[in-house]
Amino acid sequence: MGQVRESGPAFQHLALMVRDIEASHRFYTEALGFEQCASIDRPGVDFRFYRGAPDRHHDFALVQTPDPSAFPAADTKWNMLDNRVGINHIAICYPTREEFLTRLRVLKEQGVEFRQRGNHGMTHSVYVSDPDGNGIEVLYELPEEVWVNDVHGALNYWQDMPLDGDEALTDPTDYPVFSGSAQ
Ligand SMILES: [Fe+2]
Repeated sequence: MGQVRESGPAFQHLALMVRDIEASHRFYTEALGFEQCASIDRPGVDFRFYRGAPDRHHDFALVQTPDPSAFPAADTKWNMLDNRVGINHIAICYPTREEFLTRLRVLKEQGVEFRQRGNHGMTHSVYVSDPDGNGIEVLYELPEEVWVNDVHGALNYWQDMPLDGDEALTDPTDYPVFSGSAQ
Protein backbone atom coordinates (compact mmCIF):
# COMPACT_ATOMS: atom_id res chain seq x y z
CA MET A 1 0.00 0.00 0.00
CA GLY A 2 1.01 3.64 -0.14
CA GLN A 3 2.49 3.49 -3.62
CA VAL A 4 1.93 6.75 -5.53
CA ARG A 5 0.55 6.39 -9.05
CA GLU A 6 0.56 9.02 -11.77
CA SER A 7 -3.22 9.38 -12.01
CA GLY A 8 -6.55 7.96 -10.95
CA PRO A 9 -7.78 6.86 -7.54
CA ALA A 10 -5.62 4.54 -5.47
CA PHE A 11 -6.09 2.72 -2.20
CA GLN A 12 -4.13 4.72 0.35
CA HIS A 13 -4.48 2.99 3.69
CA LEU A 14 -6.38 0.33 5.59
CA ALA A 15 -7.72 0.18 9.15
CA LEU A 16 -8.30 -3.26 10.67
CA MET A 17 -10.42 -3.99 13.73
CA VAL A 18 -8.63 -6.74 15.66
CA ARG A 19 -9.43 -9.15 18.51
CA ASP A 20 -6.04 -8.88 20.23
CA ILE A 21 -4.01 -5.82 19.28
CA GLU A 22 -0.84 -7.14 20.93
CA ALA A 23 -0.93 -10.33 18.85
CA SER A 24 -1.66 -8.34 15.69
CA HIS A 25 1.09 -5.83 16.55
CA ARG A 26 3.62 -8.65 16.82
CA PHE A 27 2.49 -10.20 13.53
CA TYR A 28 2.63 -6.98 11.50
CA THR A 29 5.92 -5.77 13.01
CA GLU A 30 7.96 -8.92 13.71
CA ALA A 31 6.69 -11.17 10.89
CA LEU A 32 5.91 -8.61 8.18
CA GLY A 33 8.44 -5.88 9.02
CA PHE A 34 6.26 -2.81 9.55
CA GLU A 35 7.00 -0.19 12.21
CA GLN A 36 4.53 1.49 14.50
CA CYS A 37 4.69 5.25 13.80
CA ALA A 38 1.90 6.72 15.93
CA SER A 39 -1.16 6.05 18.04
CA ILE A 40 -4.33 7.89 19.00
CA ASP A 41 -4.02 9.80 22.30
CA ARG A 42 -7.46 9.11 23.72
CA PRO A 43 -8.19 7.20 26.94
CA GLY A 44 -9.89 3.85 26.37
CA VAL A 45 -8.98 3.75 22.69
CA ASP A 46 -6.18 1.54 21.33
CA PHE A 47 -5.68 2.71 17.74
CA ARG A 48 -2.16 2.30 16.33
CA PHE A 49 -0.64 3.37 13.02
CA TYR A 50 2.00 1.50 11.00
CA ARG A 51 4.19 2.04 7.96
CA GLY A 52 6.73 0.11 5.95
CA ALA A 53 9.08 3.05 5.35
CA PRO A 54 9.55 6.54 6.88
CA ASP A 55 8.74 8.39 3.65
CA ARG A 56 5.04 7.65 4.25
CA HIS A 57 2.86 8.89 7.14
CA HIS A 58 1.06 5.55 7.52
CA ASP A 59 0.07 2.50 5.51
CA PHE A 60 -2.47 0.98 7.85
CA ALA A 61 -3.91 1.03 11.35
CA LEU A 62 -4.86 -1.58 13.90
CA VAL A 63 -7.83 -0.90 16.16
CA GLN A 64 -8.60 -2.96 19.25
CA THR A 65 -12.25 -3.98 19.08
CA PRO A 66 -13.96 -3.02 22.37
CA ASP A 67 -15.44 -6.47 23.11
CA PRO A 68 -13.45 -9.23 21.40
CA SER A 69 -15.52 -11.91 23.17
CA ALA A 70 -18.29 -11.10 20.68
CA PHE A 71 -16.04 -12.44 17.90
CA PRO A 72 -14.70 -15.85 18.95
CA ALA A 73 -11.96 -17.15 16.66
CA ALA A 74 -13.41 -20.49 15.55
CA ASP A 75 -10.95 -20.98 12.68
CA THR A 76 -8.24 -18.47 11.87
CA LYS A 77 -6.86 -20.37 8.86
CA TRP A 78 -7.60 -18.45 5.68
CA ASN A 79 -8.41 -20.07 2.36
CA MET A 80 -8.73 -18.18 -0.94
CA LEU A 81 -12.22 -19.44 -1.81
CA ASP A 82 -13.79 -19.52 1.66
CA ASN A 83 -17.52 -18.75 1.74
CA ARG A 84 -17.45 -15.16 3.00
CA VAL A 85 -18.16 -11.57 2.08
CA GLY A 86 -15.85 -8.61 2.60
CA ILE A 87 -12.09 -8.76 2.30
CA ASN A 88 -10.64 -11.83 0.59
CA HIS A 89 -7.01 -10.85 1.10
CA ILE A 90 -4.76 -7.83 1.54
CA ALA A 91 -1.57 -7.66 -0.54
CA ILE A 92 1.72 -6.34 0.86
CA CYS A 93 4.41 -5.57 -1.72
CA TYR A 94 8.13 -5.83 -0.95
CA PRO A 95 10.28 -3.69 -3.24
CA THR A 96 12.76 -6.30 -4.48
CA ARG A 97 13.08 -10.04 -5.03
CA GLU A 98 15.80 -10.08 -2.35
CA GLU A 99 13.50 -8.50 0.22
CA PHE A 100 10.77 -10.97 -0.73
CA LEU A 101 13.18 -13.88 -0.16
CA THR A 102 14.20 -12.40 3.19
CA ARG A 103 10.54 -12.06 4.12
CA LEU A 104 9.83 -15.71 3.28
CA ARG A 105 12.59 -16.73 5.68
CA VAL A 106 11.43 -14.37 8.44
CA LEU A 107 7.83 -15.59 8.13
CA LYS A 108 8.99 -19.19 8.54
CA GLU A 109 11.23 -18.23 11.49
CA GLN A 110 8.20 -16.60 13.12
CA GLY A 111 6.19 -19.79 12.67
CA VAL A 112 3.81 -18.34 10.09
CA GLU A 113 2.16 -21.04 7.96
CA PHE A 114 2.23 -20.62 4.19
CA ARG A 115 -1.36 -21.24 3.14
CA GLN A 116 -0.76 -20.89 -0.60
CA ARG A 117 2.21 -19.86 -2.72
CA GLY A 118 2.80 -19.37 -6.40
CA ASN A 119 3.95 -17.56 -9.49
CA HIS A 120 0.93 -15.39 -10.22
CA GLY A 121 1.95 -14.04 -13.62
CA MET A 122 2.64 -10.49 -12.53
CA THR A 123 3.79 -11.27 -8.99
CA HIS A 124 5.40 -13.99 -6.96
CA SER A 125 3.18 -14.40 -3.94
CA VAL A 126 2.75 -16.28 -0.70
CA TYR A 127 -0.54 -16.16 1.20
CA VAL A 128 -0.69 -16.32 4.98
CA SER A 129 -3.28 -15.60 7.70
CA ASP A 130 -3.02 -12.76 10.18
CA PRO A 131 -4.05 -13.49 13.79
CA ASP A 132 -7.71 -12.78 13.01
CA GLY A 133 -7.78 -14.99 9.90
CA ASN A 134 -7.47 -12.20 7.34
CA GLY A 135 -5.75 -13.34 4.18
CA ILE A 136 -2.41 -11.58 3.65
CA GLU A 137 -0.61 -11.83 0.32
CA VAL A 138 3.14 -11.18 0.54
CA LEU A 139 4.57 -10.40 -2.90
CA TYR A 140 7.05 -8.74 -5.15
CA GLU A 141 6.15 -7.51 -8.60
CA LEU A 142 7.74 -8.92 -11.72
CA PRO A 143 9.05 -6.40 -14.29
CA GLU A 144 6.31 -4.45 -16.07
CA GLU A 145 7.18 -5.93 -19.47
CA VAL A 146 6.12 -9.35 -18.15
CA TRP A 147 2.44 -8.40 -17.81
CA VAL A 148 1.80 -5.00 -19.41
CA ASN A 149 0.72 -6.38 -22.80
CA ASP A 150 -1.64 -9.00 -21.41
CA VAL A 151 -2.97 -8.32 -17.90
CA HIS A 152 -5.77 -10.86 -18.40
CA GLY A 153 -3.30 -13.57 -19.33
CA ALA A 154 -1.04 -12.73 -16.39
CA LEU A 155 -3.93 -12.67 -13.91
CA ASN A 156 -5.12 -16.08 -15.12
CA TYR A 157 -1.69 -17.66 -14.75
CA TRP A 158 -0.88 -19.64 -11.63
CA GLN A 159 2.01 -21.99 -10.90
CA ASP A 160 2.01 -23.59 -7.46
CA MET A 161 5.19 -23.25 -5.45
CA PRO A 162 6.31 -25.34 -2.44
CA LEU A 163 4.86 -24.40 0.95
CA ASP A 164 7.33 -26.14 3.26
CA GLY A 165 10.99 -27.09 3.59
CA ASP A 166 14.00 -25.50 1.93
CA GLU A 167 12.16 -25.27 -1.41
CA ALA A 168 9.63 -22.91 0.18
CA LEU A 169 12.44 -20.36 0.53
CA THR A 170 13.53 -20.39 -3.13
CA ASP A 171 12.22 -18.25 -5.97
CA PRO A 172 12.74 -19.37 -9.59
CA THR A 173 13.05 -16.56 -12.12
CA ASP A 174 12.19 -18.46 -15.32
CA TYR A 175 8.76 -16.84 -15.38
CA PRO A 176 6.72 -16.46 -18.59
CA VAL A 177 6.21 -13.16 -20.40
CA PHE A 178 2.60 -12.49 -21.44
CA SER A 179 1.99 -11.05 -24.87
CA GLY A 180 -1.57 -12.08 -25.72
CA SER A 181 -4.19 -10.21 -27.72
CA ALA A 182 -5.48 -7.93 -24.91
CA GLN A 183 -3.91 -4.72 -26.23
FE1 LIG B 1 -3.98 -10.77 -4.70
